[in-house]
Amino acid sequence: MESVFEMIVCPLCGERLEKEGGSLFCRGARRHTYDVALEGYVNLLPPGKKNNAKTGDRRELIRSRTRFLETGKYDRISDAVASLLMKYAPRGGTGGITFADLGCGEGYHTCRIAEDLRGAGARPAAVGIDASKYGVAAGAKRAARSGFSSFDLNGEEPFLCFFAGNIFRPPLRDMCLSGAVSMFAPVAWDEAARILVPGGVLTVTASGPDHLIEIRRIIYDEVRVKETAAAAPEGFRAVGTERLTYRIDLEDREKTADLFGMTPFACRVPVSVRKKITERDGMTVTVDTVNTVYEKI
Ligand SMILES: C[S@@+](CC[C@H](N)C(=O)[O-])C[C@H]1O[C@@H](n2cnc3c(N)ncnc32)[C@H](O)[C@@H]1O
Repeated sequence: MESVFEMIVCPLCGERLEKEGGSLFCRGARRHTYDVALEGYVNLLPPGKKNNAKTGDRRELIRSRTRFLETGKYDRISDAVASLLMKYAPRGGTGGITFADLGCGEGYHTCRIAEDLRGAGARPAAVGIDASKYGVAAGAKRAARSGFSSFDLNGEEPFLCFFAGNIFRPPLRDMCLSGAVSMFAPVAWDEAARILVPGGVLTVTASGPDHLIEIRRIIYDEVRVKETAAAAPEGFRAVGTERLTYRIDLEDREKTADLFGMTPFACRVPVSVRKKITERDGMTVTVDTVNTVYEKI
């Protein structure tokens, strides 16, 4: 198994990080230190950005997203991403797959992808990075529940760790990863190109044209169909695209409200429209996602 310490660097000076007691410290002249939080994550947001209430998702949003994801209704999405990594990501020296989930939220998909890889014998070493410390705190707790070792376990190589960090300046070494994953998050192409080994892959999960179409029909008189096919940016070539479409039942108001709460519409629509959706006693909606795999050339 590759070690997470082969991947992470100090966000201030770019030096390698090591663990001592309950902290990580860098090998640079200034020996910058970062405490491992009680929940098991480390805050590697640049100074001045550590209280990231504006950048990352808020605690309430994370709670409703967690409740919804734990219903398992989006599990097929992370399974699809794991299969793509298995198929396209090059293996490291010890035969494992190293990956970063960039904009990992509360790490639900990160853990599931790592579990799928572990189940398939791909010996994952992975990091989840998000600007929201509430998100990564939840991720670290979930990873521990799933039996992954992290910073809380002394003496073992950590292999699924969560960091508060900026994906546009991720605290990761150049060319240290065989895979990167971006699910419903902004894509930092330049940084993805920097941190992937040549031949490494970035999987981008985005909404397809029919994603939650039933909800969008309630919001808009005329539903716009989004353009999903994007050309590969410089330094990458698209090597595979898979569309995943299925329908899910939202059995009650709570599930409808939780799913609606995690969409970008939730903070855009007037209260009257929000009520029209969240006060329904359930509905059936379409899940439509497009997973595109970009290989670093
Ligand atoms: C829609 S959520 C998706 C979360 C997760 N990937 C999922 O599919 O459940 C987008 C995530 O990107 C994170 N994000 C946005 N900009 C970021 C940045 N510059 N650095 C780190 N995370 C960022 C947000 O905090 C949020 O958790």
